[in-house]
Amino acid sequence: MKLLVLGGTRFLSREVATQAVALGWDVTCACRGRSGPVPEGAAHLAWDRAEPAPAALADGAWDAVVDVTRLPSQARSAVAALREAHWVFVSTVSVYADSSSPAMEPLLEPVTDDVDLAVDPEAYGGMKVACEQVVQAGAASCVVARPGLIVGPGDPTGRFAYWPQRLSRGGEVLAPGSPDDTVQVIDVRDLAAWLLVLAERRTTGVLDAVGTPMPLAEMLDGVAAGVAAGPPALTWVDTSFLEEQGVEPWAGEGSLPLWLPRPAYDGMLSHDPGPAIAAGLRLRPVADTADGCLDSPVVALTPEREAEVLAAWHER
Ligand SMILES: NC(=O)c1ccc[n+]([C@@H]2O[C@H](COP(=O)([O-])OP(=O)(O)OC[C@H]3O[C@@H](n4cnc5c(N)ncnc54)[C@H](OP(=O)(O)O)[C@@H]3O)[C@@H](O)[C@H]2O)c1
Repeated sequence: MKLLVLGGTRFLSREVATQAVALGWDVTCACRGRSGPVPEGAAHLAWDRAEPAPAALADGAWDAVVDVTRLPSQARSAVAALREAHWVFVSTVSVYADSSSPAMEPLLEPVTDDVDLAVDPEAYGGMKVACEQVVQAGAASCVVARPGLIVGPGDPTGRFAYWPQRLSRGGEVLAPGSPDDTVQVIDVRDLAAWLLVLAERRTTGVLDAVGTPMPLAEMLDGVAAGVAAGPPALTWVDTSFLEEQGVEPWAGEGSLPLWLPRPAYDGMLSHDPGPAIAAGLRLRPVADTADGCLDSPVVALTPEREAEVLAAWHER
């Protein structure tokens, strides 16, 4: 297989390129090289996607292309240069207009102009809808994979890794909301392997790319088992109390990852992995994923802040 990865120097796209090299494929990563080196064994085709596509891109006779872009202009120029390849476009479950439902419709309105996500992060889902449409309209054949929360070794977002690292420390653990809240994650290694299956089989269509949905308590038990921590001593705290305390949901400094406001986000972490599994996705247990996250960066609640919130909860 002759594979072109648009990206290849960061988290998911790098894992895709790494695994493709390991399979013995002929792999080229087209990117600037600003996020890091391309994996050993892959070729680097220097391209800043703000610039016109280099001739080598169109001349490559690629069997498949994997693209992770968020910007419609980048999707347009790449599809124009690479119409004949089988496209594997990495989108997101954030394309859905109703996060309270796991249904695969309706979609957000497409945002066809590039938006700086640092200025307006809300444009992410709409731009991904526009990118999907560009690929679907322009490529000779394509599949759109819509991942949920991607986790695992090397995750630069510092979200999921909070839990393996927190549970491995032991002691009383602040847990958000209800133990029954449904959550799901997909390991970057499983997702990358599956994207290569989609490329090789020339699978077409649109598929959610998600892990097994499970109650948060079950996921945290799995995480604890993966880091050999024993059953966690969880104290479940109402989300309204967390909000009063200024604890943020989902991501970022001071946040508790895996917590999303309910029921507004009930659907976002409960999509159906069945169709993807039928199309070749293989999912590892969350314990395996947790074990690989002990060295990943964490951006979340600090231990000091967690202790303060727990103390305030007990004193209320
Ligand atoms: N993280 C999640 O939980 C999550 C959930 C759902 C969906 N997703 C999707 O999953 C994908 C993740 O992709 P990823 O981990 O590979 O990281 P990414 O940050 O989406 O992509 C980074 C890659 O794009 C390249 N790139 C960025 N700007 C470029 C430019 N102007 N010209 C050429 N190349 C450029 C980077 O290379 P250089 O900087 O080296 O040029 C790098 O290799 C994305 O599609 C994201 O929307 C993520």
